[in-house]
Amino acid sequence: MLGASRCRRISGVLLAMLTASLLIRSGQLQVSVRVIGEVTAVQGRDVTLTCNVETKEDVSQLTWQKKMDPNNENLLTYRAGREPTYLTPFAQDRIRILGKGTFDVGDILIRDVRLSDEGTYVCGFSTHPSGIQEREIKLQVHVPPTVSIYLPPIPVQVLPRNVAECTAAAAKPPAFITWVCSSLPYNVNTTDIVHQNKTVTRTSRLWMIPTRSLSGQNATCLVLPTRGGPTGGELHLGQYSV
Ligand SMILES: *[C@@H]1O[C@H](CO)[C@@H](O)[C@H](O)[C@H]1NC(C)=O
Ligand SMILES: *[C@@H]1O[C@H](CO)[C@@H](O)[C@H](O)[C@H]1NC(C)=O
Ligand SMILES: *[C@@H]1O[C@H](CO)[C@@H](O)[C@H](O)[C@H]1NC(C)=O
Repeated sequence: MLGASRCRRISGVLLAMLTASLLIRSGQLQVSVRVIGEVTAVQGRDVTLTCNVETKEDVSQLTWQKKMDPNNENLLTYRAGREPTYLTPFAQDRIRILGKGTFDVGDILIRDVRLSDEGTYVCGFSTHPSGIQEREIKLQVHVPPTVSIYLPPIPVQVLPRNVAECTAAAAKPPAFITWVCSSLPYNVNTTDIVHQNKTVTRTSRLWMIPTRSLSGQNATCLVLPTRGGPTGGELHLGQYSV
C-alpha cells in the first residue's frame, strides 16, 4: 500500500514536469507563419507569394530572401514604421510588398515573371521573444510555347511521308500537340529538343500517303500548353507537285 501511494506521488510529480515542458513548447508556437508553399506562374504575368503571420508577440521585421547556394540572397526587408527596403535590382524593379503598413500581411507581388525567378523563396518574421520564424515557398515558372506550322513541298507518291509539321517552341513544361485530320489514315512522329534553360521545343510531324485525294483536305494542329487555352493552326494539305 505504502509503495503504491509513493509511486502515485512520483508519477504526479512527473506529470507536473511534463505539463510544464508542454507549456514551454506551446509557448514557442505563439507565432504562426502561414504560406502557400507551392506556386506556379506563367512567364510574363504577375504572381503573388503569400506569407502571413499570426501572433500576439511584437513583430519587428519582415524579410524576403531567395534561396541560393551557399548563401541566400536578401531581396527585401521591412521594419515596423519604415518604408520597405528593396535590396537587389530584381527586387527594386519587379517586387512590391502588398501589405499596407501592417505586418500581419507579408505578401509580395512579383511583376512580369521571368524564368530566372524560378526557385525557392524564404519569408521570415522577426518576433519578440520567439525570434525569427521562416517559411519556404517554391515558385515554378511555366513558359507558353511559340507555335509555328510548316508544309513541306512534296511529290505525289505511294509511300507515307511527312506532309505537315507543327512546332511548339521553347515551352516549359513541353506542350501537348495533337492533330485533327480528315478521314484519311495518318501517323505522327514527335521529336523534342531540350534547351539549356529547361524549355522544350517539340515538333510533331504528320505522316500520310500523299496521294491526289489528299489535295484540299484540312488538318488542324492543336497545341495545348499546360496553362492557358489551346493554340494552333489549320493547314490546307495538298499543295503538291505532280
Ligand atoms: C515517323 O512515322 C512514319 C510513319 O509511321 C515512319 O515511317 C517513320 O519512319 C517515322 N520516322 C521517324 C523518324 O521515327
Ligand atoms: C530558352 O532557350 C531557348 C533556346 O535557346 C530560347 O529560344 C528561349 O527564348 C528561351 N526561353 C526563355 C524563357 O528564356
Ligand atoms: C478545308 O477548309 C476550307 C476553309 O476553311 C473549306 O472551305 C474546305 O471545305 C475544307 N475542306 C474539307 C475537305 O473539309
